[in-house]
Amino acid sequence: MSIFGEVPGPPLLSVTGLVKEFSSRRTVGDWLRRVPAKILRAVDDVSFTLRRGEILGIAGESGSGKSTTARCITRMIEPDAGEIQFRDINVRAMTGAGLRDVRRRIQMVFQDPYASLNPRLSVGSAILEVGRVHRQIGSQSPKGFVAEQLGNVRLPASFATRRPRDLSGGQRQRVAIARALAAGPEIIIADEAVSALDVSIQTEIVNLFLDLRDSHGLAIVFVSHQLPVLAGMADHVAIMRAGAVVEHGPTVDVFERPQHPYTVALLEAYPHPDVTKDGMAGAKPRNGKEISR
Ligand SMILES: Nc1ncnc2c1ncn2[C@@H]1O[C@H](COP(=O)(O)OP(=O)(O)OP(=O)(O)O)[C@@H](O)[C@H]1O
Ligand SMILES: [Mg+2]
Repeated sequence: MSIFGEVPGPPLLSVTGLVKEFSSRRTVGDWLRRVPAKILRAVDDVSFTLRRGEILGIAGESGSGKSTTARCITRMIEPDAGEIQFRDINVRAMTGAGLRDVRRRIQMVFQDPYASLNPRLSVGSAILEVGRVHRQIGSQSPKGFVAEQLGNVRLPASFATRRPRDLSGGQRQRVAIARALAAGPEIIIADEAVSALDVSIQTEIVNLFLDLRDSHGLAIVFVSHQLPVLAGMADHVAIMRAGAVVEHGPTVDVFERPQHPYTVALLEAYPHPDVTKDGMAGAKPRNGKEISR
């Protein structure tokens, strides 16, 4: 599969021929009748590159392999085949401290920040924990470090004393992003990071990701089944179906001139074509180009 190549500079991340198979659980009946476990190819020969400052959107219906692909990148799920090259690092060959360093530099943000935030820890402690583990605090005071991370996600320093239950969904997701930033990442992989939020809050968080891309030079893999979200932010999109990338390219091209019938169906099936046409309400257009279809 070809490699995206419009944003100049060498790729930060190259994924080539990624494969992940799961075998279905066998029931006792299957076992007695010697029915072999079925193999499901959740990720089937997926390739892409990501450059500094680039946002790659991954879309596709439920079960198409988006999350498995995302988790294979940092080997939260161990791939069965393929290459993962991050700068000069062969990620699949890493173990121990080397792998921990990769996982510091490639941070993940998930749909449900409740699951990733310890309810007993204050926001400040949760951020400090990450900064300490990854030795990111340096000569800064702990308070100053926390205030800086909160500032990065546009929350006031006073939020440091709050607990996750005292935050709105959008604020919780901001804290989850602040925690990810506290590790000093180069890449953020966001898996359905805005899917559970109201549309207006989604727009705010998408704009926050765009600002962070600009201010921190971050590269972002943004997994979302919501095409309008990707229309408003991604430079490139990859459309997945049954584990494979069926179409990929610059977002404007894929959304305006979809080549694969599955992409056409995904775009047509979207219940809010007006939203798709305009991108997300209020989201900044990418490179001055409006997405339309
Ligand atoms: N640990 C696992 N064991 C067995 N099968 C799995 C496992 N994880 C995922 N799968 C299967 O792999 C396929 C891809 O799942 P994945 O979660 O990557 O899809 P997705 O595109 O992220 O879907 P969604 O939009 O619902 O999040 C699905 O058929 C899923 O049931
Ligand atoms: Mg998923």
